[in-house]
Amino acid sequence: MSSNPPLFSDTPVAAPSNTAPMEASLRDATFDARLITEEPFLRAILQRLYGDLQSFDDWYRALLQDVRQCHTERSAPLHLQDADRIARPDWFLQSSMVGYSAYVDRFGGTFAGVSQRIHYLREMGVTYLHLLPFLRARTGDNDGGFAVAAFDDLEPRLGTMTEFLQLTTSLRDSGISLCADLVLNHVADQHPWAVGAASGDPTFQSYFHTYPDRTMPDRFAETARQIFPQTAPGNFTWSEPMQRWIWTTFYPYQWDLNYRNPAVFAGMATAMLRLANLGIDIFRLDSTAFIWKREGTDCMNQPEAHDILQALRSLVNLAAPGVLLQAEAIVTTANLPSYFGRADRAGRECHLAYHSSLMAAAWAAMAEQSTAILRQVVAATPPSPAGTSWLTYVRCHDDIGWQVLYDDVACIDAAPLQRLAAISAFFNGADGQRFPAGALFQAGPDNPTPAINGMAAALTGVERATSPESRRAAENRLLLLYGLALAFGGLPVIYMGDEIAQCNPISAATPELAQDSRWLQRPNLSDELMHQRTDPGTSAGRVFARMRTLVAYRRTLSALAADTPRSMIPMTDPAMLALRRGDNLIVLFNFSERPIAIDAHDLGMDATRSWQHVDDDAGAVVTGQLLVAPWSMRWLLCADTPLNAPN
Ligand code: GLC
Repeated sequence: MSSNPPLFSDTPVAAPSNTAPMEASLRDATFDARLITEEPFLRAILQRLYGDLQSFDDWYRALLQDVRQCHTERSAPLHLQDADRIARPDWFLQSSMVGYSAYVDRFGGTFAGVSQRIHYLREMGVTYLHLLPFLRARTGDNDGGFAVAAFDDLEPRLGTMTEFLQLTTSLRDSGISLCADLVLNHVADQHPWAVGAASGDPTFQSYFHTYPDRTMPDRFAETARQIFPQTAPGNFTWSEPMQRWIWTTFYPYQWDLNYRNPAVFAGMATAMLRLANLGIDIFRLDSTAFIWKREGTDCMNQPEAHDILQALRSLVNLAAPGVLLQAEAIVTTANLPSYFGRADRAGRECHLAYHSSLMAAAWAAMAEQSTAILRQVVAATPPSPAGTSWLTYVRCHDDIGWQVLYDDVACIDAAPLQRLAAISAFFNGADGQRFPAGALFQAGPDNPTPAINGMAAALTGVERATSPESRRAAENRLLLLYGLALAFGGLPVIYMGDEIAQCNPISAATPELAQDSRWLQRPNLSDELMHQRTDPGTSAGRVFARMRTLVAYRRTLSALAADTPRSMIPMTDPAMLALRRGDNLIVLFNFSERPIAIDAHDLGMDATRSWQHVDDDAGAVVTGQLLVAPWSMRWLLCADTPLNAPN
């Protein structure tokens, strides 16, 4: 950027590029054509955000110049992929899309090791791989890589740029899209911007929210939400070298960026596009809800945060239109849809957004053996705008937070906090009488509903199973949750280890976990369990086989594409959830330890057509009564439905 200070002191990585002059002019023409459509929107948004800047026009021109440059440097295969995706904008909405999320080191050791495991992903039918942060992280504590020290460098212990590029190429050749984190809200205190700020450089200090005394921090603290109230209390950290308070929503070494400064926006936008040129297909936009602060609010979900995301999307449309943006906004159900863009901007923000309420509500249904909260969440979930989709999941590297459900529970219960507290206590399983083996997260006197950590297999009871029956029940619970993620309508993502029922690596009560019990769900992928995946005599083997089968069903059922309409069928039994997808598919979930008999007539099936079971009793015709076994599901399909060809 000509008008801004140097954005990166690190040497930018060279993306693979082989642009001949002729090709370059063609690229310019392509960019110009896209600009005609995109510019009015982009300019208006940026003007709203940064129009006060005296030199706005120069800044804007320089930004577009940098974005054009990123487009020019994009490699030929990526340009081809962009063109293909522009022609098939629903490519990621298909029922064939299934994701997997893992840390590089815990899954494959290194980038090269991940390449070696692509066959394992293919075996499961995975088409999307989220690799948790792999950019150069802060030395020392770094929040699992979420404290980024350089956007242009890879974490050295994971391998070289050559190995990373080999990985992106191999993934692309295998039909797997790569998702990477882009930590939007903060950088590590070791990032050059933070180092510059700490050294007293006022230009870099303006990249952050800093204050000379407690006046403003105290005012913000009245309403801003705390994320780690026990282990990193407060939202501000005193910087000794700067002699100022600095905004740190998460850990003290993660410095929140100040997006009121256009240089921050430009720096992050161009960092993203340079990363896209390495072959990243999807950006998981970490902590999006927090990127704009406003006094008197909880400093989440502010309108300007949405403007920033929409401006980023617009730049992606210009320079890397095959790339997707995925919002990580762990917020209440009512706040989620705005991450797709609202009203006249619907569909102009993120392509994907985590449905964290659905995830938490499914766990709540398991605890309560009632789908009341889950049904409330499903009812409160509007269809996502065209060209967007939920990301559905069961577990991830983070805790299961119950706060996102507060408003939903308040709609059906006069004492929402008590209800959520009971669910939290259930998964803590501290009395040893219950099946889950989870650990509380950020528990303390002012937090009545602490979040829960633990691997899915530990929380569903595989870890604590003492008999073949209790083990089977636990496996069924795990698969029931995954069945919902696969059938709800969205892009389902499997969390590493769940497919082989991997349990907590250590006891949930281990004192070292007190600092951050999220490490409970971050073990190395177990070689032993991986080997057992073909052995039906083991939990790993049974869960893996069944998960593969469910994924295979999903691929053939076009009704499970993300954009097929969804509705709920009213059920009399409180433990049931019944979803209709399009006209041809009904999926029933029994969240209880009892078998539940359903009268097929109550499902409102079109009686002129014949219906059949897809999964259990595959092929059998649905007759008057059907039984949904404890902790199980039934997928019912109109017999005349054409199936997607398996591939
Ligand atoms: C996101 C990540 C989480 C991290 C936080 C701060 O929520 O998923 O692991 O601690 O952002 O970067």
